[in-house]
Amino acid sequence: MMKIKVGLIGFGRMGRFYLNEFLKNDKFEVAYVCDVDESCRALAKALVPSAKVTADAEEIFNDPEVTTVALCAYADTRRQGIERAIATGKHIIAEKPIAQTSADEWAVVEMAEKSKVFTTVNMYLRNSWYHHAMREFINSGEIGDLAILRICHMTPGLVPGEGHEAEGPSFHDCGMHYVDIARWYAGSEYDTWHAQGVRMWSYKDPWWLQAHGTFKNGVVFDITQGFVYGQMSKNQTHNSYVDIIGTKGIVHMTHDFKTAWVDLRGVTQTLKIEKPFGGKNIDKLIDLMADSIMSGKRHEHMPLFRDSAIASQMATAMLENASQHAMPAIGTLTELEEIRERRRHMTNGYGLLPKNRK
Ligand SMILES: NC(=O)c1ccc[n+]([C@@H]2O[C@H](COP(=O)([O-])OP(=O)(O)OC[C@H]3O[C@@H](n4cnc5c(N)ncnc54)[C@H](O)[C@@H]3O)[C@@H](O)[C@H]2O)c1
Repeated sequence: MMKIKVGLIGFGRMGRFYLNEFLKNDKFEVAYVCDVDESCRALAKALVPSAKVTADAEEIFNDPEVTTVALCAYADTRRQGIERAIATGKHIIAEKPIAQTSADEWAVVEMAEKSKVFTTVNMYLRNSWYHHAMREFINSGEIGDLAILRICHMTPGLVPGEGHEAEGPSFHDCGMHYVDIARWYAGSEYDTWHAQGVRMWSYKDPWWLQAHGTFKNGVVFDITQGFVYGQMSKNQTHNSYVDIIGTKGIVHMTHDFKTAWVDLRGVTQTLKIEKPFGGKNIDKLIDLMADSIMSGKRHEHMPLFRDSAIASQMATAMLENASQHAMPAIGTLTELEEIRERRRHMTNGYGLLPKNRK
C-alpha cells in the first residue's frame, strides 16, 4: 500500500500530538516536520529520524511527493499555509482557527470550497464518541423536543501571555469549540445572544465569559468558558460538562480528561456510558482524511472549514457583545504574573505549552 506522505508544519503541543498519531497510523508516512524554533526542530530530528526537518515550509509545498499537510502553527500563518497547499495541490488538515480574521477565514472557506483538494479542521468535539452518543439519543426522540443546551468548560489552563496570542481571548481560542458544538446539536444557526465577561487579573481581555441566547429554531443555549478555574489552588481541578434538556428527558456528560461519563435519561431508556475520554481525537480526524484520500470521496464526518469560520465568527460576536456592557476587572496583573511563574515550572498541569524553547 502506498503511504500518504504528510508534512507537519508547527511542532509545538498540537504538532507533537499529530506526530504521535501519524506514527501510529500505517496509512501515513511523516515526510517532513517544519518549525521555526530550533529546539523544536532538534526534538523532531530525535523523534522521527526518517523525516526531513526544516525551518522553511516552502520545502514541503515544493515537494510533489507530499500529498497532505497538517497545519499546526498559529492562526497568523494559517491562511498563507492553506493558500500554498491549495496552490500546490495538497490535502489539508488544519488546526483551528483557519485564519486570524473573519475576513481571512471566509476567504479561505471560499478557496477551499472551490478547490479539488480535501480540507478539514480539527474541531475535535465533532469527532468525539460522547457527542455522537448523545446526539443519537436525542435524535431517537428519547428526550422529546430539544429545548436547552448548557455547556461549561472551566479549567486552570492557558493564561494570557503564555502563547496563542494569535488566537484571541480564551472564549475565542478554546470557546469556539463549544460555540461550534452547540450549533451542531441545535442543527440551526445562532439568532440572538447576550454575553457577560470578566477581566480576570485586570488583563485587557476577558478570560471568562458566559453567553446565552437562542438559535433560529428556538433552541436556547448557555455557554460558559474560562481558563480561570483556580490556577493557584494547591491541588487543581476543572469543571466541564454538557447538559441538554428536552421536553421529556435529559442527557448529561462530564469528564476528567481521561474518562468521560455520559448519562442518558430518556422516556424508555436510562443509559450510563463510561469510556476513555479520547483527548483531541486526532486519530479519528487523520483516519477520516486517509479514507477520503484513498476513496477519492470526502468523508461526510470530516469537519468543514465553513463550520470553523462560523464558530470563530460567533465566538467573536459574543466577545464583542460582552464588551458593550459592564465588564468588571478583578484581581491584579501581579497575580497573573504569579500564575505564569507557577505554570512555567509545572510539569503536570492544564494546557501547558512545550517548554524546550529558547
Ligand atoms: N483543536 C484543538 O483542540 C486545539 C487545541 C490546542 C491548540 N490548538 C491550535 O493549534 C495551534 C498550535 O497550538 P499549540 O498549542 O500547539 O501551540 P504551541 O506554541 O505549542 O506550538 C506552535 C508551534 O508553531 C511553531 N511556529 C510558529 N510559527 C511558525 C511558522 N511560521 N512555521 C512553522 N512553525 C511555526 C512554533 O515555533 C511552535 O513550536 C493553534 O492555532 C491553536 O489554536 C487547537
